[in-house]
Amino acid sequence: MEEVIVSCSGGKHVGKDIAKNLKIKYSELSTEKFPDEELNIKFKTEIKNKKVILIQSFYDNLNEKIIETLFAYYTAKDLGAKKIELISPYFPYFRQDKRFEKGQGVSIKIISKLFKIFDKIYFIDPHLHRIKKLKQVFKNGKKLDATPLISEYVKNKKIKNPLFIGPDVESGQWAKKAADIINEKSAILKKKRYSDRKVEIKLDKKINVEGKNLILVDDIISTGHTMLETIKKIKKMKPKKIYCIAIHGVFADKKTLNELKKHSEVICTNTIPNKEGKIDISNLFKK
Ligand code: R5P
Repeated sequence: MEEVIVSCSGGKHVGKDIAKNLKIKYSELSTEKFPDEELNIKFKTEIKNKKVILIQSFYDNLNEKIIETLFAYYTAKDLGAKKIELISPYFPYFRQDKRFEKGQGVSIKIISKLFKIFDKIYFIDPHLHRIKKLKQVFKNGKKLDATPLISEYVKNKKIKNPLFIGPDVESGQWAKKAADIINEKSAILKKKRYSDRKVEIKLDKKINVEGKNLILVDDIISTGHTMLETIKKIKKMKPKKIYCIAIHGVFADKKTLNELKKHSEVICTNTIPNKEGKIDISNLFKK
């Protein structure tokens, strides 16, 4: 079946490279807004009888991007596409995987119902914590792992004596894996979250960081407070240099990002387009 990759508004920063790597024809969705903010989408390439692979990363106006993606799906169906898949470099709502407070919605379960229409969805490092397996929420989901790209980045930068640190139990899996791949050491800290922007990090006195290059690894930097609190505490233990590396650089608080940059080098993959996205995820897609 003939295939075509179509970038939605949040996929253009990586779409072309992914299509090039997969040797698939590339096109971009036209998304415009009427004066009243209703969306108006249009395919600019013939998709009848083809397999359409949409690319959409959900950042910034992410709820609007959800509507855009659903419009793209149903329009493709309407125009006669045979199969419709989605590559989503950053997919949101995974962290709301339980009812934390009485009356709350379990967002990831709701979103998965909306997206079960796709024949397949490729996720890059979805935040799986209390829900252990992607298939529990997305039967049509396939998980891609960008952690080896982090290990490769650290190795290529020739960072000597690195110690990989996960600031909390949830990030620990990424820190350990990134370290293991290049036979380096890792440690996991403990975090208590009081609110969106208030976290407390507990250091483990047994971990010796003096003179070491610390690679703080997390799957997501959202407000940046997890990283910032870790840095504030760990700096007192005299490490050589601190790197903050994440798969998804959401950077919801620009002020905190600037603060992070004063104390560390901040790097992430380009699942979301930003200056820190130096690790290219289009390399995960190869024929
Ligand atoms: C934990 O749940 C995740 O692994 C991240 O630690 C968290 O999402 C980071 O959030 P923030 O940057 O807002 O502290």
